[in-house]
Amino acid sequence: MWQYTEAVHDHFLHPHNAGPLDDANAIGEVGSLACGDALKLYLKINKAGVIENTGFETFGCASAIASSSVLTDMVKGMRADDALKITNKDIATALGGLPKQKMHCSVMGQEALEAAIRQWKGEPPVPHALEHGEMVCKCFGVTDAQIIRTMRENGLKTVEEVTNYTKAGGACGECLDKITEIVGKELSLKPLTEIRPKPRMTNVRRMQLVLKTLDEEIRPRLESDGGDIELVDVDGRRVVVSLRGRCSQCRSSDVTIHNLVERLLREHVEPDIIVEEA
Ligand code: FES
Repeated sequence: MWQYTEAVHDHFLHPHNAGPLDDANAIGEVGSLACGDALKLYLKINKAGVIENTGFETFGCASAIASSSVLTDMVKGMRADDALKITNKDIATALGGLPKQKMHCSVMGQEALEAAIRQWKGEPPVPHALEHGEMVCKCFGVTDAQIIRTMRENGLKTVEEVTNYTKAGGACGECLDKITEIVGKELSLKPLTEIRPKPRMTNVRRMQLVLKTLDEEIRPRLESDGGDIELVDVDGRRVVVSLRGRCSQCRSSDVTIHNLVERLLREHVEPDIIVEEA
């Protein structure tokens, strides 16, 4: 029997904003009935980009319903761009915590939110991590990018934790070797964080170091292959870049972003920088 907080009980027994929203203009759908959990999140976003109303339909356990319910409360009245910054941890925290085996419910909420806002913006209605990654767990439709992102956002260190947060590996187990490999590779990047903790960095200093690293370390390497890179935004430790020239047409741009751009920014700026492509 899971130990649920009072907030989870309340949201499960008396869900807020339950049901579809007829005038929704942003809908995010994640999970599938075959996987045991599914969430369809409805948002009504006004012309000013503010989420005016919300609704949801969830198939799943008490945690899935509670996560969906609290999420619809959290985002109501928020600007869509600000809502995109909500993490699964925020959802779990709003519920006073979730059993570790149920953290995947909060991840499902965050992904549905991202999918809905992407649809509203005219982008493919699929979260980044699902769209760009390579499929790792066929039973639950989980990609490598999704595993890496969940590990980074939640500080995961073991395969078991990855299963708790994403469900990957929790059925036939055929993907466990691949998950072990991803976890090992991801953790091998971590010692920089642990061995060389750096003092807290100001936004201005971070921006300066990002620009310097792009100019001195990254751009010359891309230019030698006929490519280039442009800085689009720095939002805390999230750096958004755009690949140019030959890099922009490259099918392995995801690898360039993570294995070159992110690796060097982590080395020269901050060890927990997350790089996304615009
Ligand atoms: S492929 Fe991942 S559990 Fe079956």
